[in-house]
Amino acid sequence: MTEELKKAAALKAAEEIRSGMMLGLGTGSTVYYLVQHLGDLAAAGLQIHATATSRATEDLARQNGIPLVDIAKVREIDLAIDGVDAIDPAYQAVKGGGGALFREKVIATRAKRVIWIMDERKLMPHLSHVPLPVETAPFGYHFTEKKIKDLGFIPELRTRDGEIFITDNGNYILDLAGNADMDYRIMAHKLKEITGILETGFFSPICEKIIVGTKNGVIVKT
Ligand code: 5RP
Repeated sequence: MTEELKKAAALKAAEEIRSGMMLGLGTGSTVYYLVQHLGDLAAAGLQIHATATSRATEDLARQNGIPLVDIAKVREIDLAIDGVDAIDPAYQAVKGGGGALFREKVIATRAKRVIWIMDERKLMPHLSHVPLPVETAPFGYHFTEKKIKDLGFIPELRTRDGEIFITDNGNYILDLAGNADMDYRIMAHKLKEITGILETGFFSPICEKIIVGTKNGVIVKT
């Protein structure tokens, strides 16, 4: 059922895409449905180009015949579409579940328009119950971890299949458990002041709209 809701949100977002657009493609299982659908649209003649927020999405886009442009050659991004891990009523979001938060933030903050797509499980009253991922340089990361603990977080180094997870940028991800008293907007600023942290998975409300797949249909909220 959840997969159907993700797909419904992704297909609704695709209605925003016009021929000639340069797209920013997010990362994750919801964006997967978007990229697949874009492949069908491109095969049917829709003229689009895209830049991707991860190697995984690059691979998927290639498999689906979507022309990719290296971010270094992109002048403007008309529309970025991405998923979220959690979003609050003010449209502040936590992202980075797939470890792509840095590239996702680069593309989201450069795009003219941003749409976030999700199933209804992602809607949360508060973000502070959700672990906040941060991308951290491996060099001296245990010092970085200590500074993070000093802020009141409990950091956990992300692993995959028993190995340390390495991002597309060659860094680590620390997943930070916070507490109910934390305002992630404020904490994200403090985290960014720590040398060794490249970026946090806290996203301010930069989306033009959210598209949510629910059991009662797709909801578009601006
Ligand atoms: C990857 C992300 C994803 O957008 C986020 O994890 C949502 O993924 P999914 O659509 O699979 O739930 O931030 O870094």
